[in-house]
Amino acid sequence: MPANPDTIVITGASGGLGRALLEHLLERFGDAEIRATHYRSEIPMHHERLTWQRLDLRSADEIEAWSADFHHIDWLLNCAGYLHGDIGIPEKSVRAVDNNFSLESFRINTLPTLLLAKYFSAALKRSNAPLLASISARVGSIEDNRLGGWYSYRMSKAALNMALKTLSIEWRHSHPRGCIAALHPGTNDTALSRPYQANIAPQNLFQPSYTACMFVDLLTQLDPAQSGNFWAWDGTRIPW
Ligand SMILES: NC(=O)c1ccc[n+]([C@@H]2O[C@H](COP(=O)([O-])OP(=O)(O)OC[C@H]3O[C@@H](n4cnc5c(N)ncnc54)[C@H](OP(=O)(O)O)[C@@H]3O)[C@@H](O)[C@H]2O)c1
Repeated sequence: MPANPDTIVITGASGGLGRALLEHLLERFGDAEIRATHYRSEIPMHHERLTWQRLDLRSADEIEAWSADFHHIDWLLNCAGYLHGDIGIPEKSVRAVDNNFSLESFRINTLPTLLLAKYFSAALKRSNAPLLASISARVGSIEDNRLGGWYSYRMSKAALNMALKTLSIEWRHSHPRGCIAALHPGTNDTALSRPYQANIAPQNLFQPSYTACMFVDLLTQLDPAQSGNFWAWDGTRIPW
């Protein structure tokens, strides 16, 4: 069981969900050392057991260089993501599809998890119960796609899900005590969802602190037999 991790890496910890998770992990695991990353945002908080790194997760070179600092990691949690920004906004129709926006979505939503898995593989292998989890999104489920739209975000999260599933199969041999998880947080009140909250009923718009607590409850219960699944915040399984 991956309970009580000693060393935790959390990427995208400057975001709404990442920061909430970071605060919850510091409180919940009183002995854990946490290494967190931010990129464009300034460092949002300080703590004696917390070390920050500015890291562009689109850069394989930066991830590789940072990974050299680590000997042992129990949990690696990726909370970075991209839905809208300078390059574009989610597409309502195929007419709005734009190469640069689609590629940026893959660069931030898909590839970093795979690169982190690659470069942190050895450090995770030194754990008795390594866990690698990445925040995906229900809209990345192909089976669950009822509304359409949001091509780039959906595709990049579906591809992330495939990366995590494939990694879980590799880990059966390479990290047999480990667990891989794709996570859906529900709709949370963060900068990422803010422009798209108008039609969300108040009871369905979560505070990130609530979701962080639910995620950690879930993660502490996962074992290798449950590796390679897509979980909602409440512990229910989402079809791929
Ligand atoms: N909020 C929701 O309702 C919701 C729903 C479903 C899924 N999700 C997923 O949950 C995750 C967290 O979302 P959030 O709501 O917390 O979003 P957020 O507040 O916008 O935070 C996004 C995070 O991603 C980081 N990031 C973006 N580009 C990066 C890059 N190139 N290199 C390194 N870090 C980068 C940001 O770092 P800087 O700010 O420091 O640049 C920030 O820490 C995302 O994967 C998102 O897709 C969110």
